[in-house]
Amino acid sequence: MLVTGATGTLGRDVVAVLKERGHEVRGLSRSRPGYAHADLLTGEGLAEALDGIDVVVHAATDGRKDVAATAKLIEALEAAGKPQLVFVSIVGVDRIPLGYYRDKVTIEGMVAAYGGTSLRASQFHDLVLTLAKALTKLPLIGFYPAFDVRPVEVHDVAVRLAEIVEGELPAQPGDFSGPQRRSTRALWQAYLTHTGKRRLLVPIRLPGRIFRALRDGAGTGPGGGIGTWEEFLVRKL
Ligand SMILES: NC(=O)c1ccc[n+]([C@@H]2O[C@H](COP(=O)([O-])OP(=O)(O)OC[C@H]3O[C@@H](n4cnc5c(N)ncnc54)[C@H](OP(=O)(O)O)[C@@H]3O)[C@@H](O)[C@H]2O)c1
Repeated sequence: MLVTGATGTLGRDVVAVLKERGHEVRGLSRSRPGYAHADLLTGEGLAEALDGIDVVVHAATDGRKDVAATAKLIEALEAAGKPQLVFVSIVGVDRIPLGYYRDKVTIEGMVAAYGGTSLRASQFHDLVLTLAKALTKLPLIGFYPAFDVRPVEVHDVAVRLAEIVEGELPAQPGDFSGPQRRSTRALWQAYLTHTGKRRLLVPIRLPGRIFRALRDGAGTGPGGGIGTWEEFLVRKL
């Protein structure tokens, strides 16, 4: 099996979980020592990285050129005898009009046309932590956009991906998110309590379709994961 984005937040766990479950795994990176080297944007090194591979979990992203990178990957997969392909997308990409999400919808279509499958996951706890740290940049007040989320533990997403590659590849495996639907306020408050920081939390209501969709719960998903935000904070901080 090959994991693209193997040095990333999710990819690291995907490699570890697949190995724990007895799979032979090759991780892909552009330059990190100890990995198969290839660049999805140029295609350089891809044919060698795909040699003998039967399944690809595609978890690489550069945040900007993922459509072009995935097109190169699919071209290389076609030339390599069509191994199975599982792509990691995001819950709500078809409802939340962000540019990065539009690209995800395009890529899901490319993956489906290839005969692969896409798992949509909700926001990782690691991303929520990055946002929580940004919230406490100001000394007294933390402004935050108010909506509900259902953040998920990357390990749980990695296990779900392993289950998918080990079973029948469903055309649409459904959305996958964390165990608890929480308000952003509750998440930030838990972070403040855990770190002993004090901030007056002030909700801001942002106009526009993106925040309307988020307020409608478009990014929450149905659950399925086990790990909670509080457990993540205890382990990570
Ligand atoms: N973060 C979230 O909350 C979240 C939620 C749901 C779904 N997702 C999706 O899950 C996937 C993984 O996200 P992540 O947060 O784990 O990403 P990440 O930490 O940013 O890692 C992405 C990896 O992609 C690799 N990469 C970037 N450009 C590449 C290129 N041209 N060729 C080859 N490799 C390249 C990089 O590896 P090297 O630098 O070693 O080459 C990097 O480690 C993404 O598709 C993301 O949209 C993320």
